[in-house]
Amino acid sequence: MTDPDPLGSRSLTGHEEDLLACAASLLPSGARHPTMNPAHAMVVGTASGSRLTDVSGNEYIDYLLGSGPMLLGHAHPAVTEAVSERLRMGGSYLLVSEPTIELAVKLVEHVPCAERVCLTSTGSEAVMHALRLARAFRGRDKVLKFEGGYHGQGDCVLMSNQWTRTPADFPTPVPNSLGIPHSAETEVLVAPFNDLAATTALIERWEDDLGTVIVEPMQRTIPPVAGFLEGLRDLTARTGIPLVFDEVVTGFRLGLGGAQSHYGVTPDLCALSKSISAGFPLAAVCGRGDILELAEGYRKLTGGYVSLTGTYSGNPVSCAAACAAIEVLEGEGVYDAMYAIGNRLRIGLESLFADRGITVRVSGEAPAFEVWFTDIDLVDFRSTLAADQALSARFASGLFERGVLKAHEKFFLSLAHTDEDVDLTLEACAGDIDAL
Ligand SMILES: Cc1ncc(COP(=O)(O)O)c(C=O)c1O
Repeated sequence: MTDPDPLGSRSLTGHEEDLLACAASLLPSGARHPTMNPAHAMVVGTASGSRLTDVSGNEYIDYLLGSGPMLLGHAHPAVTEAVSERLRMGGSYLLVSEPTIELAVKLVEHVPCAERVCLTSTGSEAVMHALRLARAFRGRDKVLKFEGGYHGQGDCVLMSNQWTRTPADFPTPVPNSLGIPHSAETEVLVAPFNDLAATTALIERWEDDLGTVIVEPMQRTIPPVAGFLEGLRDLTARTGIPLVFDEVVTGFRLGLGGAQSHYGVTPDLCALSKSISAGFPLAAVCGRGDILELAEGYRKLTGGYVSLTGTYSGNPVSCAAACAAIEVLEGEGVYDAMYAIGNRLRIGLESLFADRGITVRVSGEAPAFEVWFTDIDLVDFRSTLAADQALSARFASGLFERGVLKAHEKFFLSLAHTDEDVDLTLEACAGDIDAL
């Protein structure tokens, strides 16, 4: 093993190189997000707090955070302890257990739309279940989503997301993968995010066919403009179309009540995952009791049943992790501290660019934000297309080389990030920007 030089000067041991070669031959992008630069492939050794270390011993300040879930930082002692204790009681039962019930109680307490809760394992599943419930409740099939929004891997939502290269005219969807049946395209309508007039026109035109409207309340890192979510809420309530908030990123991240508390708009259903369970696979669909009622088992016999089951749904270990995480997040001033650190980094970045005469826009909220190389205000997917993607990639690459790891489209903050992390990150950014 080489003598590691923390934060920067990355060097790989032969062991890590061998592991990477093996991974590349056996796992086609399977263990590395396909959007990450292949030159930055790494094999993670350990992670603790805000830091992550590869098997060669190179250390990174981690703003990737497992693509968001590690809101408490890595290996938070309260979570590690709760999980270890629960593991000794067995790993999976299918049957309900105490942590599952405790979690449901907490979700109903904290999440405004949550009258009842259905647990599942991943964000994609939670979205799929929310859409099925909403469509069944309204008795219609079409889904309206917003261009640039990501809702996971389900066929009918893997369309017109942030990876779309050539957008179509609204409301035509663009599939983001091969292998999606063409019939799925006929179920989806796409609207421009933050454009209430265009969305209203589409909903009114397709009112009789729409089963649901799904939106990321903060789409990627683009916050809603004033009145957009409120207008969407009024419109869907008036037309009786269930409104789904995909809070897989924003749930617990913007606050324990998610984006619906943060922005003050309550949907009919929401999908939660990532930050709710401190890195253990878990997701939830929460919402109106009369909609969740459709998943009651007795309805299998009487008819009108919506199937939402899963072998690992409500897994006791993941639920124990979630309960431990919630207890930490309920602590006095916890979110204020994370917002303060996030804002310090965000403002520090803005002034580094301003000092060097480089125009950027920073979108998002303190717990999740992104820097865009553009002079256009970011309000929807098309405004992001004008940003210089090559420069963004160089910026992220330079940070990686300097020991700062970020998600391909955002900086995620955690409770574990410190002022020292921010100082080191800004130092790395300064060097990176000067070398751009
Ligand atoms: C907003 C949103 N919805 C759904 C998903 C899918 O979640 P998962 O990857 O757990 O299936 C993601 C994942 O990044 C997401 O960001």
